[in-house]
Amino acid sequence: MNFRRKRIALGVFLLLTWLCFWFSYKIFRNLLYEDYPLTDPDLVNITIAKDSVCQSGTKFAIAIHSAINNTALRQGIRETWGNSSHHGIPVVFIVGLNDNKDVHDLISLEHSTHGDLVVGDFVDTYRNLTWKHVISLKWFITYCPSANFLFKFDDDIFVQPKKLVSYIESIENKFEKPNILCDTVHSAEVHRNKKSKWYVSRKQYRRKFYPTYCNGYAIIYPRNAVNLLLHTSKETQFFWIDDVFFTGLLAAKSNIPRFTEPIFIAPSHAFNLTKINETRLDSNATEIFNKRPVGPTQVREASVLYRLWEIVNNDQI
Ligand SMILES: *[C@@H]1O[C@H](CO)[C@@H](O)[C@H](O)[C@H]1NC(C)=O
Ligand SMILES: *[C@@H]1O[C@H](CO)[C@@H](O)[C@H](O)[C@H]1NC(C)=O
Ligand SMILES: *[C@@H]1O[C@H](CO)[C@@H](O)[C@H](O)[C@H]1NC(C)=O
Ligand SMILES: *[C@@H]1O[C@H](CO)[C@@H](O)[C@H](O)[C@H]1NC(C)=O
Ligand SMILES: *[C@@H]1O[C@H](CO)[C@@H](O)[C@H](O)[C@H]1NC(C)=O
Ligand SMILES: *[C@@H]1O[C@H](CO)[C@@H](O)[C@H](O)[C@H]1NC(C)=O
Ligand SMILES: *[C@@H]1O[C@H](CO)[C@@H](O)[C@H](O)[C@H]1NC(C)=O
Repeated sequence: MNFRRKRIALGVFLLLTWLCFWFSYKIFRNLLYEDYPLTDPDLVNITIAKDSVCQSGTKFAIAIHSAINNTALRQGIRETWGNSSHHGIPVVFIVGLNDNKDVHDLISLEHSTHGDLVVGDFVDTYRNLTWKHVISLKWFITYCPSANFLFKFDDDIFVQPKKLVSYIESIENKFEKPNILCDTVHSAEVHRNKKSKWYVSRKQYRRKFYPTYCNGYAIIYPRNAVNLLLHTSKETQFFWIDDVFFTGLLAAKSNIPRFTEPIFIAPSHAFNLTKINETRLDSNATEIFNKRPVGPTQVREASVLYRLWEIVNNDQI
């Protein structure tokens, strides 16, 4: 009898201890992290896209993530390096939605003129860039069934697709297993200053540094990597910085290496044309493109795209 009572007391004690730990854990966890939904690709869908953009048999496809209002940059790209009739590679611009009716009408008009927009059903904002990336990968998988490579660019990039393609073909064996080519960023510190555009709270991301990830302006994805990433995203909490999310957190979780090549990226300010005025641009561009013919270069304005296009065409670089 006594023995039985002791057993019950012990049981109750253990149960209470366990409950106590469990609640503390819950409270503690809540203080430390915020719960974000899983990044299920089914939560966003493509509302506008032309399904004939990717002709059957194409091996490469270009998806340019574009801010909805960057109409001039999109037109600049269409008229320069993004013109498919020059290189035969399908090119689309990935955008989101906007409440503003005028903006929506302009986007519809732009699509009916050029047929190269892919519109996802998310609000086109900075904090929704990860959804833009999801749409981009989904577009590639569903609308480009024959393509082996997705080139993901931002809309402020100048690049020479033909040169990039011959380069990729020369190192194609590196992509037999999932592998991502880009400008890798190592040990980037998380921005904790609330005024920063890239501010991330400790609740959103706990660690001090991000894992190795790809600078998002230019990413070369083989198809096998895209499939894996979309699969892994379903089991991973949403994080809004899209390049960190896809090429850092998800790639690491999926065991996909990220690598860079000197010819692809020369991480030097000399090659950043964002702030170069026209005089310097002319005197520098030839040298830049001779050193790094396939490298994507950041520009800020459409005018720089036209100038660079003239330079690479006139000088046969
Ligand atoms: C997106 O499409 C999938 C598959 O057709 C569907 O299951 C899902 O409900 C859709 N999501 C939204 C937000 O409409
Ligand atoms: C785009 O421009 C429209 C109209 O000028 C504005 O209402 C909207 O907020 C802008 N969107 C973004 C993402 O900047
Ligand atoms: C693309 O190039 C072709 C052939 O040079 C030209 O006819 C067409 O107008 C160009 N497209 C744009 C948007 O500039
Ligand atoms: C992101 O898009 C979703 C719809 O997919 C929308 O509900 C949400 O408000 C958007 N977030 C922002 C910050 O615009
Ligand atoms: C180029 O310079 C601009 C402005 O200084 C900066 O925001 C951008 O990150 C730089 N790009 C690269 C690839 O270094
Ligand atoms: C452009 O840059 C060059 C070289 O840095 C400088 O000499 C020139 O004054 C600049 N021109 C303008 C219009 O800013
Ligand atoms: C660009 O031009 C300036 C002078 O015009 C020169 O000092 C600089 O080294 C050049 N940079 C490159 C990358 O060619």
